[in-house]
Amino acid sequence: MKNWKLAAGLLLSVALPGSAMATDLEVTHWWTSGGEAAAVAELAKAFDADGQDHWVDGAIAGGGGTARPIMISRITGGDPMGATQFNHGQQAKELVEAGLMLDLTDVAEANHWKDVIYPPSLLDSCTLDGKIYCAPVNIHSPEWLWLSNKAYEKAGIPVPKDWNEFVASAPALEAAGIIPLALGNQPWQSNLAFGAITVAVGGLDLWKKINVSKDMDAAAGPDMAKVFEAAANARKLAAKSTVQDWNQATNLVITGQAGGQIMGDWAQGEFAVANQVAGKDYTCLPGLGLNEYLSTGGDAFYFPKLKDADKEAAQKRLAALLVSPEVQVAFNLKKGSLPIRGDVNLDAANDCMKKGLKILASGNLVPSGDMVWSADVQKQAEDLMVEFWKTDMAPADAQAKWVEILKTGL
Ligand code: BGC
Repeated sequence: MKNWKLAAGLLLSVALPGSAMATDLEVTHWWTSGGEAAAVAELAKAFDADGQDHWVDGAIAGGGGTARPIMISRITGGDPMGATQFNHGQQAKELVEAGLMLDLTDVAEANHWKDVIYPPSLLDSCTLDGKIYCAPVNIHSPEWLWLSNKAYEKAGIPVPKDWNEFVASAPALEAAGIIPLALGNQPWQSNLAFGAITVAVGGLDLWKKINVSKDMDAAAGPDMAKVFEAAANARKLAAKSTVQDWNQATNLVITGQAGGQIMGDWAQGEFAVANQVAGKDYTCLPGLGLNEYLSTGGDAFYFPKLKDADKEAAQKRLAALLVSPEVQVAFNLKKGSLPIRGDVNLDAANDCMKKGLKILASGNLVPSGDMVWSADVQKQAEDLMVEFWKTDMAPADAQAKWVEILKTGL
């Protein structure tokens, strides 16, 4: 891959890094935390390496919920960037359908994406009418519990092994002046916590019944009612967590001010930049320690159509580079995510990443919410969940509203 890029570069020009001849490509994303910035720097470094191209960083602060509408309106409003992050799934579906995104099928074929990308659902979610429109860069699963070993030491109790033990540990944490559960105020964080509790308390089969088979009786039924009760209990544990951003909530865990946080495996990047060691300073429990599974969401890059042949060539070079083995290793080690291909060397993976790799190999995988529901359903669910988590909305009322939202996506 590198050689191919180098050879192509030499044919066109002998350009040096940062030289005036490099093709600028603006890349938008919402990776602004310490760990995220360290990971995205790896992508920029690789893209700039041979001097042919230049990564113009278009970071948008405030998380995906803030960034996505900005990205979409730039693309639909005639001010497209060179490349942009979205989550795997349906977030860019309407842009692709509107003919606004570049077809990457030739890049995918030349680089054998169909043979190397695993699980295949990642590439499927980039595909429309047989054509490929995005380059997946990682697998991120949201359903992890991150625990502060220091907080438990201070409270004088062992670090919990699963969600049930975590809930039982809350009074001891509170007695030691520690917030049991860290949770930020952005709507997606509440929705993520709810999804993780659904699988922990209701089980994977219930999750699949509702989200994959779209069984609305199950969504309205008694097993889901128990999940809503459990979430209402969990919100009490998070009542004193007043931070906004997810990484501020992770910081409460890193500093031992909170016992735990339900968050995606991107939290690993924050522990890494704080020099914390998995297993020693913090503990990670995939599936909240009750159901070890991964939902294979994550990030992919899409390339809006630009009326400029040089830029289009640069877009295709970036697409190929993102999937290349070297970039997959460098980026994912910093990001805390898993690579989208199995043929790369991950000896440097930490304990948590190794747990993720083991689950990936076991095949205990489900699609992400972004893959099974439209962006509109996801957004409505997020708005409901933040209201539910941040007010005293009754569990039964929240369940009824939630079912109505899901029904709009059938
Ligand atoms: C993305 C991650 C990112 C996280 C928090 C998720 O939607 O998939 O890459 O780290 O948001 O910003």
